Amino acid sequence: MRTDLAPTIHRRDYQAFPYLLPRTQLFFDLDAERTRVHAILEFERVGDAALPLVLNGEQLTLESLLLNGQALTTNDYQLTTETLTLNPDSARFTLEITAFCGPQANTALMGLYVSGNSLFTQCEAEGFRRITWFPDRPDVMSRYTVTLRADKSRYPVLLSNGNLAGTRDLPDGRHEAVWEDPFPKPSYLFALVAGTFDCRETTVQTRSGRSALLQIYSDPGTRPKTAWALECLKRSVAWDETRFGLELDLDRFMIVAARDFNMGAMENKGLNVFNSSYILADPDSATDASYEAIESVIGHEYFHNWTGNRVTCRDWFQLSLKEGLTVFRDQEFSADMMAHGLGPHEAASARAVKRIDDVAMLRVAQFPEDAGPMAHPIRPESYQEIGNFYTATIYEKGAEVIRMMHTLLGEETFQAGIQEYFRRHDGQAVTCDDFVNAMESAWQARQPERNLKVFRHWYEQAGTPLVQVHLNYDAAQQRCTITLSQSNPPVGIERQQQGLHKPALHIPVAIGMLDKQGQTLAVPGADSTTGTVMLELTQTEQSWVFEHVPTAPVLSLLRGFSAPVRIAYEQADAELALLASHDTDPFARWEAGQALAARQLLLLAAQHDAAQPAADITLLKHTWQTLIADASLTPAYLARVLSLPPEKIVMADMLPMNPAAVAQARLQLRQQLGEQLAQEWLHIYHAHQHADAGAYSPDAVSAGRRALKNLALSYLAAAQHPQALTLAQTQYEQSDNLTDRMAGLAALMQWKDPSPGQAALTGFYDSWQGDPLIVDRWFALQASSPATQVQDVRRLMQHPAFTLRTPNRARAVVFQFCQNNLLNVHNPQGYAFWAEQVVTLDAINPEIAARLARAFDNWAQYAPDLRDAVRQALESIRDHAPLSKNVAEIVNKALQ
Ligand code: PHE
Ligand code: ZN
Repeated sequence: MRTDLAPTIHRRDYQAFPYLLPRTQLFFDLDAERTRVHAILEFERVGDAALPLVLNGEQLTLESLLLNGQALTTNDYQLTTETLTLNPDSARFTLEITAFCGPQANTALMGLYVSGNSLFTQCEAEGFRRITWFPDRPDVMSRYTVTLRADKSRYPVLLSNGNLAGTRDLPDGRHEAVWEDPFPKPSYLFALVAGTFDCRETTVQTRSGRSALLQIYSDPGTRPKTAWALECLKRSVAWDETRFGLELDLDRFMIVAARDFNMGAMENKGLNVFNSSYILADPDSATDASYEAIESVIGHEYFHNWTGNRVTCRDWFQLSLKEGLTVFRDQEFSADMMAHGLGPHEAASARAVKRIDDVAMLRVAQFPEDAGPMAHPIRPESYQEIGNFYTATIYEKGAEVIRMMHTLLGEETFQAGIQEYFRRHDGQAVTCDDFVNAMESAWQARQPERNLKVFRHWYEQAGTPLVQVHLNYDAAQQRCTITLSQSNPPVGIERQQQGLHKPALHIPVAIGMLDKQGQTLAVPGADSTTGTVMLELTQTEQSWVFEHVPTAPVLSLLRGFSAPVRIAYEQADAELALLASHDTDPFARWEAGQALAARQLLLLAAQHDAAQPAADITLLKHTWQTLIADASLTPAYLARVLSLPPEKIVMADMLPMNPAAVAQARLQLRQQLGEQLAQEWLHIYHAHQHADAGAYSPDAVSAGRRALKNLALSYLAAAQHPQALTLAQTQYEQSDNLTDRMAGLAALMQWKDPSPGQAALTGFYDSWQGDPLIVDRWFALQASSPATQVQDVRRLMQHPAFTLRTPNRARAVVFQFCQNNLLNVHNPQGYAFWAEQVVTLDAINPEIAARLARAFDNWAQYAPDLRDAVRQALESIRDHAPLSKNVAEIVNKALQ
């Protein structure tokens, strides 16, 4: 058993760095095998006390160390595997470090690494210390000048942050580029890229009339696939000016696509590095969902230029300061883009669709996290490995917390708060408290009686709060009383804190009331167009009294998902059906339909265990028929309404959890709905068969039509409808875009007779094997298929195109199987496979391995036989030595 646990770092232990580092000069002699880095660092002591200078450094080989030009000997400093410590005796001094690192051997993809034939860096959170010894923490900000030297034919393009100050040729076929970043920045925002690239560029005028060069660099031959990315970047620049009043501050903004990348993308100042899956797109290689994701991620990284870079984090506990806020901004950006150019009704529907997708993602990824061993507040109190805290909680729940402030303050006051935040903190490394203080002061400038005192507790508590709703209707008095109460019991490591008190939170709960016919009840105090009332719950329990309510209301709760909570309220199936058919709030309407379907799935899952007869789905079927017949609903919205809730959302209401039973139930219900609504699906299919009038367009309206059509196709295929095979085959063969082609292929794979699916899969690979992103999809489709068992996924990994070293490929196969093949992974062989892959990956890439290690986070709630099997698998990982800090933290917390 492992005893050498990594130390835990606590938020309360923060101490400022005792030195300033106004200037940093870096000289790179780039080479894939062995890169030489010469650093000149000018330090200034902050206080009087001569504190030691402790620099971070890992996986480096020291060549020489000079203090004020004098070579130091081993007596003058202490070197460990993680630090370099000096005791300088002057208040100002220059340190010169020369060291080597090995990009080619760097499979962790942190620091300087090789991808394809090029060199890239990744420094967030703590990767810069693999480049040179440095105060590698976000509150030490420095102005960088970077000189890159490399072989000119192998690395013709040499990029770093800021402005290009000069280039020249050197002897022996080498060349040099000098980059100067005018903005002080923390080391995690440093980047360099060297290699051969295509480039697509344009020049834009910013609001104040400055012109800026926007560039997208990608692998040779991929330039035809970067038009969409550049368009998205232009939209991002324009949107941040108009919606947030934030202008691009650089002469040059570059994005480079990398094939090997641990995450989605990285906001390095002026030199974003992206996973190529969030850059490259053309109709044959990207689906509608990828076009949308590209827009959102390009927006996200661009928006970081202000929220993250101009104002950065004081320490990593403040990560949500930049991430939650920037996710909120990218969500709003996408919503505005989707609604752009539409009439009011369609625009509202487009926004609702975006909200639905974001909330579904929160529930799939964040709610389980917040109920498991890794649960943490959006501002964590402690961590062992910061790489493990780039989580759905920090990002998605963080964005929900920002959104609640936006809801409470309103757009105008929220924007005033943003302005105030930059007025106070531009150029600084700050805390979440600083952000909330700026928001509060903008609010109080307009409404002196309001404050965020109770609201701040959102930053301190883990867990998804439960809001219980109680309705009392007094017919004689025509009075309706609504009582809300909140609770949020300890989760994760909170459970080890003795005497922990979790105070009540400030929770905005948007509600509406309908009568029994589905008409909006005019409630006193409600918004006159939507009938929505905002109840601000700030205590453990509160009641609101509504007079002159003519009839007992049907409650429409948590409209627009006004807070990241769960609602507990007894509602009959008939009430859910009424809301699904009539609620004027599109989010709540969708929610009601999903709740109805989820109940059906839970029934089926329970029956599946007991082998009972199929449940009666009449009410669900009728509700869906009403929805299908409602001409006011847009195709994109209808596609969400008619989708069955994801297994991971349904499972949250099942104890003990039986994931395979839920997956089985979902397949079964899909088949039943496919059979019983076959005429409707056929009608929908034909109505939207040609989503674009002309050539493929990824716009949200066309994408919505394709989504609905392909949903219909999947129901027909699930039902083995006699026409489905031809429709799928024709669509697969004749469509001009990947969305439809993949949907055709997926439908063929649903066929009971495996031969049409197999034939199509083989043909698909033959046609697209040259495009790694398409090959990833080909792998993913198989790894997540209900037909793929453990032995099949092992066979898939024998394919010559498979490798664990490229994160996208590992994700396409291993992660798809372990995280999304609920039907086939939840058995002892599946768990053993998972444990084996975690251990193998850990030796290659700890960050990726640690993510895989979280696949069964909520195992403690599984049925007893599954629980025992997961525990065994977890123990087998834990007992494997050596484990990375990343995986060790996850596994130890899971076993606690
Ligand atoms: N900061 C990046 C983002 O949110 C994510 C990231 C974290 C990328 C760590 C790489 C490493 O946009
Ligand atoms: Zn981010």
